[in-house]
Amino acid sequence: MNFMKKETLHLYYEIFDSIDELSNEDAFLLKQAGEATKNAYAPYSNFYVGAVARMGNGELVYGTNQENASYPAGICAERVLLSTASSLYPGIPIKTIAISYRSQDTTSDHPIAPCGICRQSLQEFKERVKQPIRLILGGLTGSIYIIDDASLLMPFAFDGKELG
Ligand code: THU
Repeated sequence: MNFMKKETLHLYYEIFDSIDELSNEDAFLLKQAGEATKNAYAPYSNFYVGAVARMGNGELVYGTNQENASYPAGICAERVLLSTASSLYPGIPIKTIAISYRSQDTTSDHPIAPCGICRQSLQEFKERVKQPIRLILGGLTGSIYIIDDASLLMPFAFDGKELG
């Protein structure tokens, strides 16, 4: 007798050819993320990331990557944003985060997705406030991905409940 089962996970996302296809609200947020890259401190990677959240209370919260000569001390734009959001507006859900980037070494013409550590942080933020976080991912030009729930990027996430 064989007890083995197979399961499949699905990642649903929307693809837009350009920012012109987004709603005004989403296009605004993505442009803000692109603008925010100017405040990144990334002298080591020359890769400047900007993230902007639209909060449940209507406020916008910004994050940019902040690097350090001691490389591991650097922090991604997404986690700067999450820390700022929960410091300024504790308990308020994040509706949507737009993430964009610019680089001295590559073109900013396609979406980038949050790194693994940021996915874990996005996951826990969602668990805290019990509201999914929508993501808009896009470069300064080119196609855009929209993911309705950042949790889709973190299947089998480790959860604090495991700690008892
Ligand atoms: N980075 C972010 O800020 N967000 C991401 O989603 C990916 C990477 C930063 C970290 C580092 O400062 C630089 O980009 C290159 O990895």
